[in-house]
Amino acid sequence: MAIFGKMVMSTYPPIFGRLVEDLKRVLGTEVSKDKVILTTSFSKEDQILTWAVLKAGLDVDIVSLDTGCLFPATRQTWKATEDHFGIEIRSLLPDPAEVAKFQATQGLASIYQDVSSRKSCCGMRKIQPLQKACAGKSWWLTGLRKEQSSNRAALEMVEDAPDWGLQKFHPLIHWSDEALESALVLTGVPVNPLYALGYASIGCAPCTRPVLPSEDPRAGRWWWEQSSKECGLHRG
Ligand code: ADX
Ligand code: SF4
Repeated sequence: MAIFGKMVMSTYPPIFGRLVEDLKRVLGTEVSKDKVILTTSFSKEDQILTWAVLKAGLDVDIVSLDTGCLFPATRQTWKATEDHFGIEIRSLLPDPAEVAKFQATQGLASIYQDVSSRKSCCGMRKIQPLQKACAGKSWWLTGLRKEQSSNRAALEMVEDAPDWGLQKFHPLIHWSDEALESALVLTGVPVNPLYALGYASIGCAPCTRPVLPSEDPRAGRWWWEQSSKECGLHRG
């Protein structure tokens, strides 16, 4: 464990206190791994959310989708995060038979030619494993923020997600880019080194490229598509 746990809550700026209070207010006291899932891609947002959940002492199921296509730097950040917080982050894997079938029939390169292939790949590597992990749960915590994209600007902090059989909770929804950057410095959480190389939003390696400062932060996700830049985890 590095810096985590050494400072008391009252020494952090008020936005941190509000984040921890929102978590406790919305989730209540009946928090357990059986009922609450937190998905992390080790984004800047997810690192702050993990920090806050642990600071609040909430016992939630912290998971990451190991799609088989993550950047090595993301894997390093996963390990650094576990070491930093002294926790294990549960890996959600795709069904190997589905992956083998996809490889044999379509192949990964097909995602660049055909949106339906790309969606099949996201379905197999992300949606299906997460649907299984969400079964029986009441809450799904994410790091979504309104400032991330125009699609996300209309999101509320809590939304019904009937397709997933639970409610989604986005505690950082109103956080600005500036607040997020300050929080990373103050908490000292590990940050994926790809951000320093121009990656603004980081997903699977085949589907993520760096962006110019003038570009939309999500322009580097599925950049060859004229789509809403969503994979099915969140509304497009
Ligand atoms: S995505 O749908 O386009 O990939 P984005 O990268 O913005 O989403 O992340 C938004 C939220 O989706 C994250 O805060 C996290 O809750 C979840 N998420 C995205 N990718 C993963 C992943 N590989 N593993 C776990 N959660 C993820
Ligand atoms: Fe497949 Fe790309 Fe979706 Fe990852 S983001 S699951 S590599 S299509």
